[in-house]
Amino acid sequence: MSKPVILTGLRANNDLHIGNYLGALLPIVDMANTKSDEYQINLFIPDLHSFTTPIDHGSLQDGIMNNLKLYVAAGFPLDNPNVHIYRQSYIPAHSELTWILDCFTGMGEMSRMTQFKDKSLSLGEDRISVGLFNYPVLMAADILLYGASYVPVGEDQSQHIEFTRDVAERINSQFGDIFVIPKPVNEQHEFFGKDQGLRIKDLVDPTKKMSKSSDSSKGIIFLNDDIGSVKDKIISSTTDSMNLISYSKETQPGIANLIDLLALISGKSIEEIKSKYNGQTQYGPFKNDVAEAMSSFIEEFQAKLLGVDESAIMEKLTTSEKQMNEIANSTLLKVQKAVGLRK
Ligand code: TYM
Repeated sequence: MSKPVILTGLRANNDLHIGNYLGALLPIVDMANTKSDEYQINLFIPDLHSFTTPIDHGSLQDGIMNNLKLYVAAGFPLDNPNVHIYRQSYIPAHSELTWILDCFTGMGEMSRMTQFKDKSLSLGEDRISVGLFNYPVLMAADILLYGASYVPVGEDQSQHIEFTRDVAERINSQFGDIFVIPKPVNEQHEFFGKDQGLRIKDLVDPTKKMSKSSDSSKGIIFLNDDIGSVKDKIISSTTDSMNLISYSKETQPGIANLIDLLALISGKSIEEIKSKYNGQTQYGPFKNDVAEAMSSFIEEFQAKLLGVDESAIMEKLTTSEKQMNEIANSTLLKVQKAVGLRK
């Protein structure tokens, strides 16, 4: 029997930030380095997702290579035959399955997707594309084509995982055993050793998610930020006037966010960080520690990035894309047969 699959993708329309890294890249890299004997690990570039909102198309190719290099700098091992990197648009089955799934998806359920509602609010009516509306369907195709059981994503994508399960169950109940159903979101958290989905907050407005589409980059730590600005962003991050370090996402979202960041970057538990700083009345020394830890992390990351070999990436893409086309086409054929498109 083939191995269960762990899969994720990160869009390539902007530089990745620390939320993308901690929410999706770090968990899949960990899996690739520790679980590839038992699981097939897929990390892909959802390039078709890149222009659901307007982008500069002339820089897409550079953005794709840039992201692939970030994957490798983060530790994704290219020399392991059980791990794969690929570009979504090089596997036409993604688009074909999306169309079929579109016809089994309700307008109502897409309209309820929080990501769609949030993004369309910031765009204005006439700039909302149909692609933005139905991108969760493309995402479901990305997952179902490979029979993925586990999909490490940040909290903002959980609703899309639930939708993927719903549409897969809908097809299976009508046509029989076609798709592997991804595990429920709470089981996924357990699998990745978390009690909930990760949502790193903006450093200027810690009530909001850190997001590439924010108006200002002051609240975002990008993986390619210069070290000075990483420190500045942490030191000048918004906290509160309670003058007491404790961990409460409700009453002290800024401090809780910094504690989360420090724990994840240093590989320590929240409990350890809490007990080190709990009760301290000065935010300065704590912020300095977070700034130091974050800037050393970014510095090391960028040093690794300089050493990434583009030709090794191109070679791996060629091999993986051939293998993934075979897997994806065989799932697509099952679906085409089920819906009556093939004998
Ligand atoms: P994207 O490209 O917006 O984000 C990539 C990943 O980063 C996570 N993320 C965060 N995690 C924690 N805190 C944050 N502030 C934060 N911001 C972003 C996202 O949850 C995501 O995991 N539709 C997806 C890409 C995609 C995909 C897929 C993912 C397409 N097909 C199939 C998994 C499986 C997206 O737009 O993510």
